[in-house]
Amino acid sequence: MSNWPVSNGVGHSIPGVAGATDDVANIYNQAGDDYVSYADGDPSQPFAFDGLHAYADRCVWAALETKLADLRATGASSVRFLDAGCGPGTWLCRLVLRARSLGFSSITARGFDIAQAQIKRARLAARNLSGLPGVNLMFDVADLADRLPESDASVDLTLCLYSALSHLPVASLKDISAEIARVTSGHFITTVRPVGSTPTAFVDSLENVRRLKQDHVRDRCEIDLSDGRRLAFGFHLFTAVELRNHFSGCFDIEDLRGLDLFHCRFAPDLRWNPVRSLGDSHLADELERLEKACTARPEFMDRAAHLLLVARSRRAAAPKAGSVAPA
Ligand SMILES: C[S@@+](CC[C@H](N)C(=O)[O-])C[C@H]1O[C@@H](n2cnc3c(N)ncnc32)[C@H](O)[C@@H]1O
Repeated sequence: MSNWPVSNGVGHSIPGVAGATDDVANIYNQAGDDYVSYADGDPSQPFAFDGLHAYADRCVWAALETKLADLRATGASSVRFLDAGCGPGTWLCRLVLRARSLGFSSITARGFDIAQAQIKRARLAARNLSGLPGVNLMFDVADLADRLPESDASVDLTLCLYSALSHLPVASLKDISAEIARVTSGHFITTVRPVGSTPTAFVDSLENVRRLKQDHVRDRCEIDLSDGRRLAFGFHLFTAVELRNHFSGCFDIEDLRGLDLFHCRFAPDLRWNPVRSLGDSHLADELERLEKACTARPEFMDRAAHLLLVARSRRAAAPKAGSVAPA
């Protein structure tokens, strides 16, 4: 049993500190246009995976791509995606692109986020994709805590990536899990930050942080940035066991592991490390080997940069429009 702190499950409407932006939507609304490249790397190179979370991104993408290819291998020609807390929409665009290249002829995808500015960016990023024949790609402003408009068992792949869930009150996760399970006929894939992860500044780089304090009892993070901005918002760090427990009631858990145990911690800090000692390909191979060896070991998982959960629905898919029921 781990001795990590236990959450009180406070609501996501939290008391602010003087002058602080204490609403999650506001923080991601104010994140600015650089947020996409900060979070996801170069948006014109969606499969380059060279952003801040490059190693974890590659692992997440491998999990998503496998599920998509498996679905196509069953003979399915239509697919439906849902991205809850989609931010700038990068992951949904990646999935739509890959679904097309795999030969899906009907692709329906909806991303939603509580932050209006993120949805605006997502719509802009998707403008060339959403008009393609067979593609129905849309983005809405909505809250993960609300009922989803999708009908029962209508979504093949539901995502909730990079800690969108961590902003929700822990007490609401049981209902959220049940609602995601209601609409998902295939798989649900999520990532959150574990209790032993290194700090993040969420919408800015750590170099720009003057003060950071995560309160594990109230599930609240406060950050003072060097440009004078103060952020305070609900945030929960998970243990692997806890994440499993939130979703195992409604899903079969196929995979739970820690992503990026070593890459982040071995990454050079250009404020400190000399550049010449960097690009060591042997070290990169070793780190990859170590990641694979330790990814599912309990003593390491809770200290990874992210936890990845892949959950399989217990529901059969709803018949798709135009499909013929077996005689
Ligand atoms: C770190 S970002 C990740 C964005 C995206 N999933 C990605 O991986 O690029 C977390 C996102 O969760 C969204 N979010 C937080 N609380 C939410 C809620 N209650 N409903 C919907 N989205 C929410 C935030 O606005 C933010 O865009």
